[in-house]
Amino acid sequence: MDTRRFSWIDLGLGEIDKAIKVLGAPARSSREAPAVPEGAAVLQAAQRAESARLMRVNHSGEVAAQALYQGQALTSRDPAVSAAMRQAAAEEIDHLAWCEERLRELKGRTSVLNPLWYAGSFAIGALAGALGRSTSLGFVTETERQVESHLRGHMERLGEADPRSRAILERMTHEEMQHGAQAASLGGQELPFPVGMAMRLTARFMTLGSYWL
Ligand SMILES: [Fe+2]
Ligand SMILES: [Fe+2]
Repeated sequence: MDTRRFSWIDLGLGEIDKAIKVLGAPARSSREAPAVPEGAAVLQAAQRAESARLMRVNHSGEVAAQALYQGQALTSRDPAVSAAMRQAAAEEIDHLAWCEERLRELKGRTSVLNPLWYAGSFAIGALAGALGRSTSLGFVTETERQVESHLRGHMERLGEADPRSRAILERMTHEEMQHGAQAASLGGQELPFPVGMAMRLTARFMTLGSYWL
């Protein structure tokens, strides 16, 4: 029997299983979502709808994060990087679960485009992982930097109107910064400017898609 081929089939099935779990099953967090500040406002219908759209975008971002990390873990030839990616994906599950929980509270729904974001992000992650340790880690640093600035934008848009969603985004921002810093300290290199620009454009496309769909 061709054992190498068999192991690739195994790997493929494993990845499909992970994708189905992220896309189809409720995420379980290991930590409680950030608490609602005292006297949190009751949301008006229009604000609730807007908060739901913003949290749908952030939920999609976390779906993409799962795919990016799993893709990188699969193709990275550096066992330390692979392990770090799998660890990061496990930590990011909390973000996914918190966004999902908040969407439920807001009577919102997740994006129908999530399978597309997962597939695309997995492919990009796999490519980054194959390009070697410093590029792969540099990609994480750049991604988390862009996620941080995106989340800050959403916090501004929420203002004081929705403290519960804002508290979740604040905690996520703090942790994304830690992920980025950790990847940089492990040897992530600065990516060329056009790559960062292409990543920003892709993220804008995803943001727009999940906001409406
Ligand atoms: Fe995250
Ligand atoms: Fe992160």
